[in-house]
Amino acid sequence: MPIAEYVWLNEELVPLDQALVSVNDRGFLYGDGFFETLRAEDGRILFMPEHLARLKASAQAFRIPFPKKFSWERRLSRVLAANGLERGLARLKILLTRGEAAGLGLPRETWPTLVIWAQAYSPPAPEEYARGWPVATFPERRTTFTGRHKSLNYLFYLAARQYALDQGAKEALILEADGLVSEGAATSLIYRQDGNFFTPEAPSALPGVTIAVLGRSLARRGLSLAAVPTTQANLAQAEGLWLTNSLLGVMPVSSLDGRPWPISEAAGLLQECLKTEEQA
Ligand SMILES: Cc1ncc(COP(=O)(O)O)c(C=O)c1O
Repeated sequence: MPIAEYVWLNEELVPLDQALVSVNDRGFLYGDGFFETLRAEDGRILFMPEHLARLKASAQAFRIPFPKKFSWERRLSRVLAANGLERGLARLKILLTRGEAAGLGLPRETWPTLVIWAQAYSPPAPEEYARGWPVATFPERRTTFTGRHKSLNYLFYLAARQYALDQGAKEALILEADGLVSEGAATSLIYRQDGNFFTPEAPSALPGVTIAVLGRSLARRGLSLAAVPTTQANLAQAEGLWLTNSLLGVMPVSSLDGRPWPISEAAGLLQECLKTEEQA
């Protein structure tokens, strides 16, 4: 993947090698901040209001000032343009930290640090979407309220993904402390049972933008996507299981812990649902 040459830092677009952040930034010291990853197609930024709403809600919940009177669309488009990404697929990443402030707790009086990156994105090949991804259950469980936010404390998810890779899988299944199914390391889950779609209701799962978009698209077609507490036994009975996120879209699961999973033809419907919302 080509390295981005320009990034947005606080108030301006700067060459990457001049984009300097203090070692006292609390994002670096404590993971005290949040991020969003968005997909752009030919310069069109997908589901920006949903991503910004989640970032703003997390910033407010943790007392990080959220940029006011900030033309997000113009800034994100400028970062895309500066990196020659007005055409094709791109990954936009927005990162907001508390900036520099002394003391533990969540000091309110700070100058937050804002960084926006844009890089070319190469999605998996169509054959990979057709084949699906193997998934491995991460043995370490987690229940934490920070899981509901896309915080910079990503170490648990990186370790879960690495566990999956070490098993020859591509994504990890994360369980809550009580064993209920939660989400993937960087994905939400959707499954189908008796013709209906479900997503695990879990106290620590990130409220996925893609899940929300799929939910409203399915509703427009008279179908539902219900959030329900999901055990591993429930999941084992599902007719189809998919991983979703803003970059990947909808990726079928081909096996779970080595047990092959049937690729349901409903993958096409979910992918279609996402496409129609992207174009809306
Ligand atoms: C832990 C976790 N769950 C779910 C998702 C999916 O979220 P979204 O659909 O908003 O991209 C992500 C995204 O990267 C994630 O990191």
